[in-house]
Amino acid sequence: MLFEPISLKGVTARNRIVVSPMCQYKSAEGSPTDWHLVSLGRYAIGGAGIVFYEETAIEDRGRKTHDCAGFYRDDQIPEYRRITAMLKSLGAVPAMQLGHAGGKGSAHGPGTGRASLTAQDARRGLAPWQTISASAVPAEPDYPAPHEMDERDIADVIAAWVRAAERTLEAGFEILEIHGAHGYLIQQFLSPLINRRSDRYGGSRSNRMRFALEVTRAVRKVWPDDRPLFFRVSGVDGKGGLWTLEDTVALADELKLCGVDVIDCSSGGLIGSSDMPLVPRVPGYHLPFARKVKAETGMMTMAPGLITEPGQAEAILREGSVDLIGMARELMYSADWPVHAARELGAPNYLELFPGDFASRLKTRAEQRAMAVNQ
Ligand SMILES: Cc1cc2nc3c(=O)[nH]c(=O)nc-3n(C[C@H](O)[C@H](O)[C@H](O)COP(=O)(O)O)c2cc1C
Repeated sequence: MLFEPISLKGVTARNRIVVSPMCQYKSAEGSPTDWHLVSLGRYAIGGAGIVFYEETAIEDRGRKTHDCAGFYRDDQIPEYRRITAMLKSLGAVPAMQLGHAGGKGSAHGPGTGRASLTAQDARRGLAPWQTISASAVPAEPDYPAPHEMDERDIADVIAAWVRAAERTLEAGFEILEIHGAHGYLIQQFLSPLINRRSDRYGGSRSNRMRFALEVTRAVRKVWPDDRPLFFRVSGVDGKGGLWTLEDTVALADELKLCGVDVIDCSSGGLIGSSDMPLVPRVPGYHLPFARKVKAETGMMTMAPGLITEPGQAEAILREGSVDLIGMARELMYSADWPVHAARELGAPNYLELFPGDFASRLKTRAEQRAMAVNQ
């Protein structure tokens, strides 16, 4: 099944391997650089069906760091189109993940400890900025308090989501994912760990879901019906959290009504002091979330998390809890994994996953090697 093409609405991928979004911290004023072209090119050359661009902020202040991706100006469209044209020419479906870091913005990247930016950083050209969130509650213990968004701010941010989705379409991306996970702005509204509001965006679960659903409805209106819309959710908050799998199923039910096609199950991002345990990092650790979401809502799912072996990926698809195999670190390690997996699973013409004349060149190589062994 791994190598059977899959059609999602009007978009067909050559197989079910999805390069999960991976932040690179190598953007220039939010825009792609040569690094993106080369690193995403590795995955497309290696045979993946769908290649996600990293989490990309819908407005400037929605970035985590100064080096993070953003798609908040029209003049960036040609720069992103260079990425989509390259991916399509190599046989992969280009996909975009749009997000907003909310109170997790204005920070350093993982290489420098993810600390919040300070006045000292400003002297080196890395000025901190005022972050926004559902409530003035820091998303990390040592981060400054964000500005609590009022209804005007909420409307402005939703309008920025819409404009970013329109630019994404114009740049040639064929799949769009809304990042509602990992403790960023949408999850800051969903989880009572951060959301302490008493208006119609806070309190009850349906009120806390309102922002996520308004964003999704607004995006769906401008994202064409024949193009798939994914939504990444944290199935549960991080250790000590308050958002549960039951809440995720309730959210997925509503997202289905908003026109979401695929629920991409992840976890974590916000940490608290309840007795919710850490999700154990076993192979396929997000699959139980996908299984539950699919069983309860009938939606298509994907669930990256230590899926590393071809036989494992095939068995997961056959068992039916996901429709797509999302992978990140294993593909970083081995970008040609799809070709090797196809060979291991006995897929005919596995070399043809490579682009250009790789296949004919590599067939000659195989013949010459066989002859050398026989001599
Ligand atoms: C370097 C790196 C960057 C990541 N950046 C993002 C991101 O931009 N958006 C996102 O939703 N997840 C991000 N993730 C999480 C991955 O998409 C994936 O869900 C996670 O790594 C689990 O899959 P894996 O076990 O195959 O690596 C990132 C992971 C890595 C390793």
